[in-house]
Amino acid sequence: MAALRIGDTAPNFIAKTTEGEIMFHQWLGDSWGVLFSHPADFTPVCTTELGMVSKLKGEFEKRNVKVIGLSVDPLDSHFEWIKDINETQNTKMNFPMIADEDKYVATLYDMIHPNADDKLTVRSVFVIGPDKKVKLTLTYPASTGRDFFEILRAIDSLQLTATFSVATPVNWKDGDDCIIVNSISDEDAVKKFPKGFIKVKDYLRVTPQPNK
Ligand code: BEZ
Repeated sequence: MAALRIGDTAPNFIAKTTEGEIMFHQWLGDSWGVLFSHPADFTPVCTTELGMVSKLKGEFEKRNVKVIGLSVDPLDSHFEWIKDINETQNTKMNFPMIADEDKYVATLYDMIHPNADDKLTVRSVFVIGPDKKVKLTLTYPASTGRDFFEILRAIDSLQLTATFSVATPVNWKDGDDCIIVNSISDEDAVKKFPKGFIKVKDYLRVTPQPNK
C-alpha cells in the first residue's frame, strides 16, 4: 500500500472500536477527523497520549473535529488498558479506539513501517477534512510522544486557510497575523482584507487574521 498523501481521499473502512462498530466515513459525517495510531496497549508513552487527548476532547469538539485512536491489540485488551489510562492520567477516556487486530486499517493507512517494527504501528496522525481528504499527516517513532497542542494549532491553520486566501507563517497561533497567498493581486487583497496589509516584499504581504 503506497503512503497516503495530502489531498488523497482517506480510505473508508469498517472497524471494531471501544464505542462499537463503525464505518469510518459515516462516523466522521460532516466533521473533521483525527485518526492516530499507537504502537501497542499497556505502553507508557501511549498511555500519556491517550490521557491527554481525553483531556483535550473539548478543544477538538470546539473545532468540529472527531478523534479516534488505533492500536493493533484486541478490544478486551483496550478495555483493560482504558482502566489504567483513566487511573494514571486522572481522566476518563471519551473517544473511541479501534481494535485493529488483523492490521487491516494499519495497512490501509501505511501505519506499519517494517524497518522500524514489522508488527507494531508507528505513531501516525491523519487530519481529515469534511470532504474526507487527507489534510495533514505526521509520523513519529514509538519512542517519541506527540504534542497534541501542535495538532490543534495545525488544525486551526488548516481550517483558516480552507476558508480565507491566507497562509500561516512560522510558529503561527490562532489570532496572529497571516500571509496573503500569492495568487491574490494587491488590488483584490485590498477588497478581501479590509483590515489592510503590509507589503514587506511583493511575495510577502502580512494581514491581521481575517476572522478575528
Ligand atoms: C510507549 O508507548 O511507551 C512505547 C510503545 C512502543 C515502543 C516504545 C514505547
